[in-house]
Amino acid sequence: MHIDQQYTDTAVWPACGRVRGEFLPFHVPSIDDDDIAAVVDVLKSGWLTTGNKAHQFEQRFAEFVGAKHAVAVNSATAALHIALEAAGVGRGDEVIVPSMTFAASAEVVLYRGARPVLVDCQADTLNIDPAQIAAKITPRTKAIMPVHFAGQPCEMAAIQSLAAVHGLKVIEDAAHALPARDGARRIGAIGDVTCFSFYATKTITTGEGGMATTDNSEWANKMRVLSLHGISHDAWNRYSAEGSWYYEILYPGYKYNLTDMAAALGLSQLEKCRSFWNARRRISAAYSRAFAEIPEIRVPACRADVEHAWHLYVIQLELERLRLSRGQFIAALKEKNIGTSVHFMPLHLHPYYRRELNYQPSDCPTASRVYERIVSLPIYPKMSDADVADVIDAVRAIVMQYRR
Ligand SMILES: Cc1ncc(COP(=O)(O)O)c(C=O)c1O
Repeated sequence: MHIDQQYTDTAVWPACGRVRGEFLPFHVPSIDDDDIAAVVDVLKSGWLTTGNKAHQFEQRFAEFVGAKHAVAVNSATAALHIALEAAGVGRGDEVIVPSMTFAASAEVVLYRGARPVLVDCQADTLNIDPAQIAAKITPRTKAIMPVHFAGQPCEMAAIQSLAAVHGLKVIEDAAHALPARDGARRIGAIGDVTCFSFYATKTITTGEGGMATTDNSEWANKMRVLSLHGISHDAWNRYSAEGSWYYEILYPGYKYNLTDMAAALGLSQLEKCRSFWNARRRISAAYSRAFAEIPEIRVPACRADVEHAWHLYVIQLELERLRLSRGQFIAALKEKNIGTSVHFMPLHLHPYYRRELNYQPSDCPTASRVYERIVSLPIYPKMSDADVADVIDAVRAIVMQYRR
């Protein structure tokens, strides 16, 4: 069977026992009246695109993560793209990227005409394995892109020291990692540039949105200019009362700026970031407590001395102990009205990377193996205690029904 068919088996799969009355979606954003009022204020203000709100959001965000600069853009993908450009990654270069990640992490390397070099993950955290990075470094390597999988920080001390030894830049994909901390240092204030996502399912949202943080003033300026056509002044500087019509094109840039409507939502969401985090932590603790007693379920490993953002809660099925596949497990959960997802099908298994960059499943054996076993369960502040209990009951009932 072709790998894609094998793992996208969504046929109805019989699950006995209690079924929840209403479908529990995999994710629902937490939008309250304050968020709505903040956006409505902007809509009434007469200034919709990048302006005061976007600048305020940048300032608050930089303070929140402890970085000198933050550049607001319309996605994490955009942030990663301009971060690589500011870092000087270009044609012929290589960038180390984990295979266990989303499309965006590697496609931005391709945008730059550079080559993503995929590295396998650790079997427990699913983060990039620092021990395997060194073997992939060549004279063409320009940067390492750690991706903080599910919101758990990568081993940044090891990655930073490899980067220092080989003279590489560290561009972090922190799409999942707000808020997070590795030892004493907050994610956003460690690598050369750190990129966050405010996509609809992320830990705070602006619908679509992203942020690049850095302590490097020159790079922050370059990213800001690149995010708006490479021109020297944004619209606020041109059209506001204090502005002037004059601008110059400094580079061929992009249309990546964040609107003030989105920034107002971001400001309002950022205020609730810690309380959202506490809610997700409670859910992850409840899941891990309940599943600790089920040998067929491997709960996510959490490194000591990190603050895990718990954007995702990814279990691994011990398939040897079960009489159903991961696809069938997901179908059985759906039968019980529980939404799930899979993060991720590793990049080296996707047709593009196989065809164009010659990747084989054996190139990242841990990611290939783990991929068959992973299921992401719902974890978001809008879930009630009863919702969490329903997920636990459904997982437990399916395991009981299908254990060997
Ligand atoms: C690991 C990772 N990186 C980058 C992105 C891209 O984020 P955005 O949708 O804001 O471009 C995502 C989105 O899901 C992601 O999961």
